Amino acid sequence: MFETLAVGDTTFAPALFLAPMEGITNSAFRRLVSDFGGYGALYTEMLSAGAYLQEKSRESPYTRKRPCEGPVIYQFGASGTEDLEALFRKLPELDAAAVDLNLGCPAPKIRAHGWGVALCADFPRLREVLERIRRNYQGNLTVKCRLGDDPGNWREGFLERLRLFEDVGVQAVTVHVRFSGEKLKRRPRWEEYPWIAANTRLPVIGNGDICHPSDLERNRAFFEPLAGIMLGRIAVVKPWIFREFAGLPPLEIDHAEVWDRLYRYTLEDMPPERAFGRLMDFTYFFAKNFFFGHQLYKGIQKAQDAAGIREAALRFLEAKPTLQPGQGLSFT
Ligand SMILES: Cc1cc2nc3c(=O)[nH]c(=O)nc-3n(C[C@H](O)[C@H](O)[C@H](O)COP(=O)(O)O)c2cc1C
Repeated sequence: MFETLAVGDTTFAPALFLAPMEGITNSAFRRLVSDFGGYGALYTEMLSAGAYLQEKSRESPYTRKRPCEGPVIYQFGASGTEDLEALFRKLPELDAAAVDLNLGCPAPKIRAHGWGVALCADFPRLREVLERIRRNYQGNLTVKCRLGDDPGNWREGFLERLRLFEDVGVQAVTVHVRFSGEKLKRRPRWEEYPWIAANTRLPVIGNGDICHPSDLERNRAFFEPLAGIMLGRIAVVKPWIFREFAGLPPLEIDHAEVWDRLYRYTLEDMPPERAFGRLMDFTYFFAKNFFFGHQLYKGIQKAQDAAGIREAALRFLEAKPTLQPGQGLSFT
């Protein structure tokens, strides 16, 4: 399953994708994931269309891309009030494998901007934004969405959006199978994938709590109709996870070394004040590798700066803490 996915002029091999994650999938983290390989493309975190216009794209840790990363898909949040024409004039600087429009983020501050699920819910504005993107951009275009707002009545609205994506020339759709109001702890609805895939000619990329290859094997009927899968939080816990999904030989992982490598990469790409929050966020997930991982996360809480986080993290990691038993991790 998921050997290749062709989107326009680009073939992603394998069809395994790193999810866009704000605070996580900056240039340093993408570089770390690329050290292990096994994926077909990496998504940036959601970029503000307005802020991107102010950035030096080859220097910013949000947009910077190293050759080792391979294909990178740039995700944007937009409401339609931005100068999308200027954005797409500037875009060639990025060497984007595709542009993705965020239609699935339900965070209140994102909704307040009219991005994410707010844009998806407003059908006329959604159409207008997609048509404007297509008028200004002929490259590969994908979208990432949820199932909708209302668990009791969503299919019609979802089908209407699939038709729109097809009509305006979107080339693949990632579906995070939760509703807008559902937190990431709620069970994802993998059982909806066959219905979604049967109702569109677009390739569908599945996302939500896929943590181990056995998830796919045990739920073959749900995943088989998909064109690819996207991994989010589990790839922060285990930046090498794509190797397992791609069937590459396992590597011996030195967790302290991996943590420290990300520290080094992060400080290479951003000032320590900005790195601080990124290292905190990464360590929250990385701690889930360990039986007493909460001690790692608690240990870094007192740190005053990036060097303090490192000291506390390595104190825990270099003591060779017991790993969490079991094959995969569950977030639900
Ligand atoms: C810390 C964090 C930040 C996220 N930021 C984004 C984002 O910028 N854009 C987006 O489309 N989704 C974002 N998401 C959602 C993920 O892309 C993904 O849909 C979600 O985590 C479910 O997949 P998973 O179970 O594999 O983690 C974020 C999720 C997390 C945990």
